[in-house]
Amino acid sequence: MKHTNETLRLRVNRIRAEAKGILSIELNDPQQAELPAFTPGAHLELRLPGGHRRHYSLFNDPSERNRYLIAVSLAANSRGGSQHIHSSLREGDMVTSSAPRNNFALADTAGCYCFVAGGIGITPLMSMIRWCVTQGKDWRLIYTARSSHRAAFYEDLQALSTKRVQCHFTEESGGRLDHQALIASLAADEHLFCCGPDSLMQALLTAGKAVSNRLHFEWFSPPETLPQAHSADEGFELILRKSGKVLRVPPQQSILETLESHGLEVPWSCRAGICRSCETAVCSGTPEHLDLVLSDEERTSNQSMLICVSRAVTPSLELNL
Ligand code: FES
Repeated sequence: MKHTNETLRLRVNRIRAEAKGILSIELNDPQQAELPAFTPGAHLELRLPGGHRRHYSLFNDPSERNRYLIAVSLAANSRGGSQHIHSSLREGDMVTSSAPRNNFALADTAGCYCFVAGGIGITPLMSMIRWCVTQGKDWRLIYTARSSHRAAFYEDLQALSTKRVQCHFTEESGGRLDHQALIASLAADEHLFCCGPDSLMQALLTAGKAVSNRLHFEWFSPPETLPQAHSADEGFELILRKSGKVLRVPPQQSILETLESHGLEVPWSCRAGICRSCETAVCSGTPEHLDLVLSDEERTSNQSMLICVSRAVTPSLELNL
């Protein structure tokens, strides 16, 4: 799904405790109008007080057009996002949100699907699982959490299928997940989708190097091993088509930082190439894509780039800014 700048005003219709430290929130249009559609794995970017922008995955069935469901885990070191939602958000409040975006799209041509969730990472996988159930696709879930009390949607998943869901609750008797064995168990046409703590995703990324084209991750923060820029030691010319400005991006400085140093404001959230908030259309020149979310097709087309991390392989790059 392409990035869209559409902004929605949504009403908090219901807040419910899903598990220890996890709230689910139902959002509707205040006039009960149909909401923009979303695809499995999509998220909303909520605009919270204090200028905070936070991404929350949608966990309801993508065929539903009357509501969005998100789940929010109270982060131990919350910088304002989950803390605000847990302590201040009430039913009846209005919130501002982006339209749904998807950086974690389902490869719908896979023969079967292996989902791996760590804690609150279950949320985007729930919409994928619901899609699989509706479409009659073969799926399985490996769910890791500290305990069943902390595992959101545990009962829903048990009701959906006990034989497809395998739990590893570290404070109970689930045992630890064997990453090598899991990768080895993937069928030839099986794709793995993982969302959870960086340690879990990094372990699967390392174990699954040989089948990396069938592994899909939703990163909350950048992985330890980031794509390396070949062009980091070289500067390049940056032309801004709308304003007519011409700037120089120095070595070791991002396009986003260069724009900011000239007093130009552009949207951003993660500054790490994992959220798409800074996606910008490319008019001419060739980007060096260093993000973690564009698809292979999007990289090849060079129609847009994530300016917080990506650079240029050509001496000049023109952006639609
Ligand atoms: Fe998140 Fe650039 S700000 S990808």
